[in-house]
Amino acid sequence: MAGARGFEPPPYPYDRLDVLQKEAEKVPGGVVDLSIGTPYDPPPALVVEALGSSGTERGYPPSVGTPAFREAAAGWLDRRFGVAVDSQHVAACMGTKEFVAGVPHWLRLRSPERDTVLYPRISYPSYAMGATLAGCRAVPYATLAGVEPADAARALCVWVNSPANPTGDVDDLAAAAAWGRAHDVPVLSDECYIEFTWAGPGRTIIAHGLDGVLAVHSLSKRSNLAGARAGFYAGDPDLVHYLSEVRKHAGFMVPGPVQAAAVAAFGDDAHVDEQRGRYERRLTLMIEALAAAGVACPAPAGAFYLWAPAPGGDAWALARLLASEGGAVVAPGELYGEAGADHVRIAVVQPDDRIALVAQRLGAV
Ligand SMILES: Cc1ncc(COP(=O)(O)O)c(C=O)c1O
Repeated sequence: MAGARGFEPPPYPYDRLDVLQKEAEKVPGGVVDLSIGTPYDPPPALVVEALGSSGTERGYPPSVGTPAFREAAAGWLDRRFGVAVDSQHVAACMGTKEFVAGVPHWLRLRSPERDTVLYPRISYPSYAMGATLAGCRAVPYATLAGVEPADAARALCVWVNSPANPTGDVDDLAAAAAWGRAHDVPVLSDECYIEFTWAGPGRTIIAHGLDGVLAVHSLSKRSNLAGARAGFYAGDPDLVHYLSEVRKHAGFMVPGPVQAAAVAAFGDDAHVDEQRGRYERRLTLMIEALAAAGVACPAPAGAFYLWAPAPGGDAWALARLLASEGGAVVAPGELYGEAGADHVRIAVVQPDDRIALVAQRLGAV
C-alpha cells in the first residue's frame, strides 16, 4: 500500500546471495550450494514409513504434542544425554524457527514491563528477528558477563546456542543457566546441533536444572527432516506450561503424521551416527580445500559449518573467489551479525562428491 509506514521486512539474508549464485553458475559442472544449512541427505526409511502410516490425518493433533511425541522426546534426552525430564515438561513446535521468531512476543504479553531480547552477537539471525517482530529491542552480547545490568533488567529472555551456528563454538551451559538465575532472565538454549558435537559429548542446559531454562531441539538437522517441521522445547515447568497454552490458543500444531514420524526419529540413533560420519568427512575435506585456496580454517567444536577467516578480512571477496573458482556458494559472515563480517560460513551439507568437486576445482585434489 502506497504510503504504508511501520515495519518493512528487510531482505531475507539468503536472498542476498543471488550474485554469488550467478558467479558459481558459470563454473562447468554446476553450482555447489554450501550457503543454507538445509540437509541434503535422506531421512531414515523408518521415519518416512511412519509419516505415511499413522492414520492421524483427519483429526486435529494436540498442540502441545501427543503423549507419544512428548515421551519420545523425553526418552531421547534421557538416553542420549542422561537427563531425566518428565514428558509434562516437554512441548512440541513446528521445527524451531517459528518458536525462535515467536517467543519474544509471547513472553512480552506476560511481562510487558520488559522489552529486550539478548542474543549472541554472531548468531542465527532469527534471534534478533524475533525481537523485531515483537516490537522489542534486540541487544547482542559478546559474553554474558559483559551484558549491561540495565539491559539484563529489561530482558525477556537470553538466547544461547551451543554448538553454535555459524561458529561451531560450544558454550558453558552451566554458567549460562547460573547467569539467567542470578539476573532473573529466562535462558533459552538452542541445541539443534547437539548430536553434531565434535569436542566431547553433546551438552544440554537442562542437565543443570529446569528452573528458568528451556532447551530447544529440532529434528531438522538430527534426522534430515527439515521439510517435515518438528521440534520441541523442554525445561522450566511454568515456562513450558505458559508457552504451550499460548501456542494452543494461537493454533500452532505439529501435524499428526509428523508427530508420528518424530516418535520414530527420536527412537533411533543409528541414522544420526551415520550422519555424524558424513559431516565429519566433509568438514575435513573442505578444510583441505580451503587450505589449497590459501585459507587456514580451524575445525569447529560442533555443527556442520566451517567458520573461515577471510584473507584481509574481506568476506565478500572470499565468497566471490569460492564462487568463481570453486563454483561454491557460501554465506558471508555479516549475515550472522556485524562482528562476523570478516568470516564466511560454509555449510558442508552437499554430498561428498560435490564437496570433492569443490576441492578439486580449488586445486586440493
Ligand atoms: C541455530 C539454529 N536454530 C534453529 C534453526 C531452525 O531450524 P528448524 O526450524 O528447522 O528447526 C536453525 C536452522 O538452520 C539453526 O541454525
